Amino acid sequence: MNRRSPKDSTPSTARETLAAVGGPKHAASVTAQEDSPAVDIPGGGSTGLQDNVTVPSGIDPNRPNVARVYDYFLGGRDNFEADRAVADEILEQTPEVRDTTRANRELLGRVVRYLVKQGIRQFIDLGSGLPTQENVHQVAQAAVADARVVYIDYDPVVLCHGRALLATNPNTVVVRADLREPGTILEHPEVRALIDFTKPTAVLAFAVLHFLEDEQAYAVGNTLMDACPAGSYLAVSHVLDTDAAQKGRDIYARRNANANLVPRSREQIRRFFDGLVLVDPDLEPSPDKEPDLVYLSQWKQLEDGIALQDRLTLCGVARRSES
Ligand SMILES: C[S@@+](CC[C@H](N)C(=O)[O-])C[C@H]1O[C@@H](n2cnc3c(N)ncnc32)[C@H](O)[C@@H]1O
Repeated sequence: MNRRSPKDSTPSTARETLAAVGGPKHAASVTAQEDSPAVDIPGGGSTGLQDNVTVPSGIDPNRPNVARVYDYFLGGRDNFEADRAVADEILEQTPEVRDTTRANRELLGRVVRYLVKQGIRQFIDLGSGLPTQENVHQVAQAAVADARVVYIDYDPVVLCHGRALLATNPNTVVVRADLREPGTILEHPEVRALIDFTKPTAVLAFAVLHFLEDEQAYAVGNTLMDACPAGSYLAVSHVLDTDAAQKGRDIYARRNANANLVPRSREQIRRFFDGLVLVDPDLEPSPDKEPDLVYLSQWKQLEDGIALQDRLTLCGVARRSES
């Protein structure tokens, strides 16, 4: 499956990305970069790198990486054997993860469209991941041409892909920053150049806060929302603490992934929205209940019309009602 739009100028394979971040452009087997030893990657399945390559500094193909594992769940090709091994083990025990991942992306687009309708023109996408289809700026700018989008991720491959995709887009930037240091996001000159923190802004945290320990996960949401005025929004999707999620956490840990999975209970996920007012952007109106967190499966009918049955992921969208 090739999920890239023909219009994407993004490098289409991990090999091209590696070339773009410092490796030679053509060879399947390439030479070592300064401080990265040559790494042989065995040929894998029908996706991802299948030849031996040498990777540039900062990228370890032997260590599972959550951005690339997610890319594999989505059917992408920017992943290595170590990423696919983790993903396949997770899929073996919880096959719904693949549909859930796709549904998460579709929810992201739906939420962005909703927020544009509410008048939001600035977006900060935390843990943005490898570009795919319907990235935040594409959805927002399809509705409002000058919508501004800052993508934040700490992964060098994400940065490279993002910059390639956005090379000619003046209202969008990819910033490499660690969510565990939220102050650096607010102070970053490229963030400040694009985002006017006196105007309502949407902070998006899809499928990322569950890679942070408690203290850091709550701090990043609070710090960014504190910097945004009334009328701003926080949108979160987050893995729920279930037996399946615990097994997933164990797989990431046993295989030494670059981030730990930290599933949370409904109450713990609800805490991300403390002080904010939850909204219910797209469900059937229900006069009987207040807007609350919802399962991804409640938001999403899969493309073929079959409802997603899982209870793996909770989502919420909330508004800041006062400064
Ligand atoms: C599962 S992907 C989610 C991508 C996208 N938000 C989505 O929902 O489709 C998680 C992303 O968060 C990034 N990430 C994880 N921990 C991070 C951290 N501490 N700082 C910045 N990015 C982080 C990973 O590199 C990865 O790209």
